[in-house]
Amino acid sequence: MDKTVVLGITGGIAAYKGAEICRLLVKSGLKVKVIMTRAAAAFVSSLTFETLSGGPVGLEMFQRPASWEIQHVSWAQEASCFLIAPATANIIGKTSQGIADDLLSTTIMAAAGPVIFAPAMNVEMYNNVVVQENIARLKSLGYHFIEPESGFLACGDQGRGRLAEPQKIVDYLLKVLQQKKDFEGKTFLITAGPTREPLDPVRYLSNYSSGRMGYALAEAALERGGRVVLVSGPVGLKPPFRADFTAVNTALEMRDAVLKEFPEADIVIKAAAVADYRPEDISLQKIKKSGGDLVVKFQKNPDILGELGKLKKQQLLVGFAAESESLAENASRKLKNKNLDMIVANDITAPGSGFEVETNQVRVITRGGEIKDFPLMAKRELADKILDEIITLKKST
Ligand code: PMT
Repeated sequence: MDKTVVLGITGGIAAYKGAEICRLLVKSGLKVKVIMTRAAAAFVSSLTFETLSGGPVGLEMFQRPASWEIQHVSWAQEASCFLIAPATANIIGKTSQGIADDLLSTTIMAAAGPVIFAPAMNVEMYNNVVVQENIARLKSLGYHFIEPESGFLACGDQGRGRLAEPQKIVDYLLKVLQQKKDFEGKTFLITAGPTREPLDPVRYLSNYSSGRMGYALAEAALERGGRVVLVSGPVGLKPPFRADFTAVNTALEMRDAVLKEFPEADIVIKAAAVADYRPEDISLQKIKKSGGDLVVKFQKNPDILGELGKLKKQQLLVGFAAESESLAENASRKLKNKNLDMIVANDITAPGSGFEVETNQVRVITRGGEIKDFPLMAKRELADKILDEIITLKKST
């Protein structure tokens, strides 16, 4: 593989494991450029990494002898990927706050390609809310993290904080390098989450959609080179940083946002759980519990996907179907009635599938009648499978 990786070694006892990671990267055919922080060099000699990588190790910003290239910029440009292993709380914190005060943090700041952190630290440090917030921020900005493992730590504590196994780290990096960019130049319009249909200033009708499925699709599409417009109902997730994001509440607001973006879209995926009905009258004041039963009249919401099916030109239309019975028949009917190219049917009664959970189990049906069943898997993994099916469908037309 004719690719260069910048391997950043930061100062923790796991720095010695960086040597094994360096060896495995070289063995995989990658060119490796190593940068060590001062603290890392206190744990392991730079000579180890010079020998394993077959090149000079970057240590200081203003190292002598200087070459005419500006090292932090030229290495960043040359690298297809960055791997920081082990990554201390310090380098994670600096990167998340935009601090560039040594060779490694400056080079990370100039990186154009993917950056992977493999944290290793004491369990209490790892669980510290500040560290976790920094990790969450970096993740939302598209940085990769390889979770540390649990076990006996050098400090004598027991718990999560031990550097992941070197082979696991290298396998992850190779997967990132091989990531397909098969949606470059394509615009996705993805909907996610529930809608809220207000009854009065404090009450609404909604459903259990967490947005996880739609957000996973948005992440996958972005990683595969697509532009993503994400229209989302109220959920507790952070939208992917690089997505164009529109937040909505009601089905009518979602309809407006979707119709506005639809003409520019190449691929539309409607993973949102849109309320089919809304209270006909919204009380301006909180409804009091005086009197007997409360009778609410519901009015039908527009079928957004059905409208898109009628307007469709170049767009490939993918719907979801949340079914509690007759999965195949109901999903196939929706595919036909809404003029879709593909429908992803989830049996919401199956354990671990559908609303709220991290996993999903689906059946994909195309307009040509092809059927593919996918076993229960993480929604993020499934998102890539659905995108693969879209590629297959596009090729066949
Ligand atoms: O958000 P999560 O917690 O991760 O859960 C994921 C999910 C279960 C919500 C998701 O996988 C899913 O199935 N989404 C569609 C849920 C749904 O509303 O299904 P439906 O069968 O009622 O609607 C069929 C399709 O028409 C959907 O693509 C829906 O977005 C769309 N629709 C529905 C009603 C409406 N008024 N307008 C629409 O556009």
